Amino acid sequence: MKFKKKILCIGAGYVGGPSMAMIAFKCPDYRVTVVDTNPERIDAWNSSQLPFYEPGLDNVIKKTRGKNLFFSKDIDNQIKENDIIFVCVNTPTKNYGAGAHMAADLQYWEKTARQILKHSQSSKIVIEKCTLPVKTALAMEKILSSSKGKIKFEVLSNPEFMAEGTAISDLENPDRVLLGSHETKSGLQARAQLIEIYTRWIPSDRIITSNIWSSELSKLVANAFLAQRVSSINSISALCEKTDADITEVAKAVGMDVRIGNKFLNAGIGFGGSCFKKDILNLVYLCSYYGLHEVASYWESVVKINEFQQQRFIAGMLNSMFQTLAGKKICILGFAFKADTSDTRESPAIYIAQKLLAEQAEIVISDPRALKNAAVDLAGIKGEIKYIEDPYLATAGCHAVVVLTDWNLYRSLDFKKIYRSMVKPAFIFYGR
Ligand code: NAD
Ligand code: UGA
Repeated sequence: MKFKKKILCIGAGYVGGPSMAMIAFKCPDYRVTVVDTNPERIDAWNSSQLPFYEPGLDNVIKKTRGKNLFFSKDIDNQIKENDIIFVCVNTPTKNYGAGAHMAADLQYWEKTARQILKHSQSSKIVIEKCTLPVKTALAMEKILSSSKGKIKFEVLSNPEFMAEGTAISDLENPDRVLLGSHETKSGLQARAQLIEIYTRWIPSDRIITSNIWSSELSKLVANAFLAQRVSSINSISALCEKTDADITEVAKAVGMDVRIGNKFLNAGIGFGGSCFKKDILNLVYLCSYYGLHEVASYWESVVKINEFQQQRFIAGMLNSMFQTLAGKKICILGFAFKADTSDTRESPAIYIAQKLLAEQAEIVISDPRALKNAAVDLAGIKGEIKYIEDPYLATAGCHAVVVLTDWNLYRSLDFKKIYRSMVKPAFIFYGR
């Protein structure tokens, strides 16, 4: 079949895979290829065991894979063959050198830019889909224009706003799609090509355009605002616990003001996931870099409250359980950073598990989807850890149960039955 457009995505992760699957699904006349340096990831995408759990993803993959969606290890040739290239590689927090533990590590992104330059034989549109510091596109442009050949590259920014666990519905029905480009003739032409893709299924009024820098910065700011709401409500939960006010009642009363809104006001163990912390730290680093130290410390406090919330949780457990957890068996119900995902990156459960082990508790971890990742996260940590998927078997014989992920499954558990099987006095700590 002759395809109308050939699209490549470099990076077959939590964003690259689902977002490209959605484009392939909505644009059957476009060929979409996703490549990655990790061969196991590509093998998993080509198998019946996708690399991670995401509701509805298998269905979209079934409808597209092998028809107009392909997963490949041959990055160099795919760069040659495709006209539109999305870059969706990982941009973690740098853990070495200048800006360590704050700035974004741009090494994967930079390698990709050089690879695109090396293997391109025709002009291309290159789109930043990964989350990057503001002004990164400028560096991409410098690398891509360094050979001074006839081939032209137009760099755009199209950050992704989907959340894990709801990725398919977010991609199918996004609040907005943001396209940042230069206001030049070639920039506007490239932008029009992206608009053509997205208007296949997204109403035009939800496709917004801006300059590249606003687009890059908006992504960081959106995550910072969401995380800030979680830290705001969590900070008030600490005050509620001192004053007998009830945080769910306060959140409801406050959230019913339409100017404030009721989303992202669930107090709990604190936010996890691969992005909130890294993106805020990135924002903090950028503000410090530009000498805006007051702004930097304002945003840094969002991360500090998140850490405080987790420390408070452990302190609360110790206080309730007579200041000692040594030799006690504690079940962690839920290890994923949120419900409906197998992802455990930056999950609060990692911190809690480590602290419980440091107190010499024995831990049993239960989760419907994330046990494999939990075992990787806790590998090499000293202490007694068991992994049991069935929540009734996992909690039996425990001194305490700690609920850390808001899986629906846990709402319908028979907690009386669980209580009967536990050591008395039995404790439950609810992190959600
Ligand atoms: P990920 O780690 O799951 O995927 C990134 C992939 O890129 C990996 O599979 C890695 O092997 C691959 N890669 C790295 N360098 C490469 C190279 N040179 N060539 C080919 N492949 C390469 O990360 P993710 O969760 O998909 O996030 C990717 C980006 O999207 C990040 O910037 C993140 O901030 C952003 N983002 C993530 C989410 C989310 O929900 N996870 C949502 C919105 C935006
Ligand atoms: C978040 C954003 O919601 C996405 O828009 C963004 O694209 C993405 O980050 C990203 O850039 O990676 P995600 O991390 O997948 O998505 O999940 P969220 O639903 O935002 O939850 C993040 C964390 O906050 C979870 O640990 C969740 O349990 C916690 N949370 C969320 C709360 O503790 N309380 C709330 O009220 C809401």
